Amino acid sequence: MEETTRKELAAWLEFYQELGIESFYRRDFSNAAPLAGHGKFKAPPAEMPVQKAPSPMPAMPARKSAASSVPAGPPVIAPPAVQTIRPPAPTFNLFEAAPAPLSGPETLEQIRQDLGDCRRCKLAPTRKTIVFGEGNSHAELMFIGEGPGADEDEQGLPFVGRAGKLLNRMMDAVGLKRADAYICNVVKCRPPGNRTPEKDEVDACSPFLYRQIESLKPRLICCLGAPAVRTVLGIKEGITKIRGRFYDFAGTKALATVHPAYVLRNPREEKILREDFEKIRDFLREAP
Ligand code: URA
Repeated sequence: MEETTRKELAAWLEFYQELGIESFYRRDFSNAAPLAGHGKFKAPPAEMPVQKAPSPMPAMPARKSAASSVPAGPPVIAPPAVQTIRPPAPTFNLFEAAPAPLSGPETLEQIRQDLGDCRRCKLAPTRKTIVFGEGNSHAELMFIGEGPGADEDEQGLPFVGRAGKLLNRMMDAVGLKRADAYICNVVKCRPPGNRTPEKDEVDACSPFLYRQIESLKPRLICCLGAPAVRTVLGIKEGITKIRGRFYDFAGTKALATVHPAYVLRNPREEKILREDFEKIRDFLREAP
């Protein structure tokens, strides 16, 4: 099989896998009649690899990671008539972290109450305090960090340690008041040793973050660092590449910037944080 065909086929298989379709069978096209409802699909000659899927799907780019799972040998295609479709596994526990009710926005207090003395993930046993968030419940600006550090874990408040001091200084520098903003994190409990929160922890906690965003409906979300960018915007690219740009999160503008802790480790990068805070100020100055 040609390399490009193999890659394209691998991408399709991965795509179907993501949809939950895993059962495939091989059909011999050499003497098959067209299937009902799929008249447009022409069977390729028996020795030719299948290049296009019969359904009107978008063209899939060949993806490197999929190539390793491609079975060798003759081509296989998804069955056009009968498919077993499983919904993707939920990224949160349906029974413990319920999404926001459909009847109007919740208050932040209601969300905090629902979070309770949370034990939904493995961060619970090692945390001292749940750091839910702090600030103006009518804030136009919402900061989202990664997770509480030692000082935050002690005090139950976000960004009160060294990174928080830098955040305050950046806000001051561009004329923003901390009291006007709302500040929270992707995960509400301190990861041991301040490590990056793991996927299962983010999955358990992020429904509460989305509910906080929904409740607050800020004009601008500022994602501080890669975990916030990944969780809110689904962008996996390096933060230094995508920072300083505005994105759309379900109708709300979001700006990605570096985490203050990164600037503490790389003081020469302070200017990029400052630059992004100027963008925040300019955005908020404009009429909504
Ligand atoms: N770093 C974060 O991401 N959040 C905090 O609250 C403090 C430090």
